[in-house]
Amino acid sequence: METIKWAANRLPKSEDKDLAVMSLENVAKARAFHRSFPQYSVTPLAELSGMARELGLAGLYVKDESYRFGLNAFKVLGGSFAMARYIAQKTGKDVSEMSYDYLTSDKLKEEFGQATFFTATDGNHGRGVAWAANKLGQKAVVHMPKGSVKTRFDNIAREGAQVTIEEVNYDDCVRMAAAEAAATPNGVVVQDTAWEGYEEIPAWIMQGYGTMASEAADQLRKIGRGRPTHVFVQAGVGSLAGAIQGFFVNRYPDCPPAVVVMEAGAADCLYQGAVAGDGKPRFVTGDLRTIMAGLACGEPNTIGWDILKNHTAAFLSCPDWVAAKGMRMLSAPVKGDPRVISGESGAVGMGVISTVMTDEAYADFRAAVGLDGSSRVLLFSTEGDTDPVNYKKVVWDGGYPCC
Ligand SMILES: Cc1ncc(COP(=O)(O)O)c(C=O)c1O
Repeated sequence: METIKWAANRLPKSEDKDLAVMSLENVAKARAFHRSFPQYSVTPLAELSGMARELGLAGLYVKDESYRFGLNAFKVLGGSFAMARYIAQKTGKDVSEMSYDYLTSDKLKEEFGQATFFTATDGNHGRGVAWAANKLGQKAVVHMPKGSVKTRFDNIAREGAQVTIEEVNYDDCVRMAAAEAAATPNGVVVQDTAWEGYEEIPAWIMQGYGTMASEAADQLRKIGRGRPTHVFVQAGVGSLAGAIQGFFVNRYPDCPPAVVVMEAGAADCLYQGAVAGDGKPRFVTGDLRTIMAGLACGEPNTIGWDILKNHTAAFLSCPDWVAAKGMRMLSAPVKGDPRVISGESGAVGMGVISTVMTDEAYADFRAAVGLDGSSRVLLFSTEGDTDPVNYKKVVWDGGYPCC
């Protein structure tokens, strides 16, 4: 059985200039923007008290993004906010003036006209961009990597986007979307990852993810639990992880929670960067085959990497059985706990926390990040059953067993 690999963060620190991307002011603007959508509601925070007891934790909380805007994943938060900030910039306004009603008005159509938003996606980000473009009367072109699942393709096509499944991996689809946008009048890349020379839109996307983190922090406070001691967050390119990490450092500057970043073993670029230890990002290439489709990205977001190397406690590389175990555990909760329908990329945190808390092989990891009976752990179930066929294969038929 393949084990979870981990590396404590001993990376050299930078000037930390990217932390400001996730300032509380920027996140508050994103949250106000999302609140203006008629589809908006705060997604549930599942308090798994029974499971926490079972695992020897003081608390375990799972933010359930299967409820986000009826889209079964958190990703729409990023694309929609980036599109709003882009339109604000082009029309000489502040994003605080970009409400849903304003963006869908005839007045805005006159001022801004028509753009085509290009993107690459494993499914969730592209669906979010297609959905937002559709709602805002804009065009979307979406490229999906080799092996993408038909349900995810159909969900994007249903939003009126032009969508294709390509013969190349995610990172090559990103290059394809960028090249096409450059060759199209009013073409814009809305990509959920940053590289040198392309950092403004990805920074806005990360701020959009801040809505989820800020809701969770408020929900914890409301139920009297306060600051989590640990946050486990999954990463593909690390935009989400950088956003979550950045938000929590800014929200609790004096005592931020310990953040642990988890990747799919087949696409563990951040973990490999942590192992290499020189502060430079590492790339993973090839087909990146994993059931965690949303995490199948081999090239780190430059902004996310900068924030993570300055603040993250540890990086984990996880085999597929970890995600499958998490999916089953969240689907079959301890009596009295709520159920969370969590897909492959959403459930890896549950698989990790249950494994590291119960297997003595991970005692060193627990000690390194300070996990013990007083820990209050926050997880993000970032998607529901976005691949319903594989969800049943795992949860009902016991696919990808852990023993
Ligand atoms: C469900 C889900 N969770 C997590 C992630 C990881 O986000 P990032 O690529 O920003 O690391 C993705 C990315 O697509 C995703 O779809």
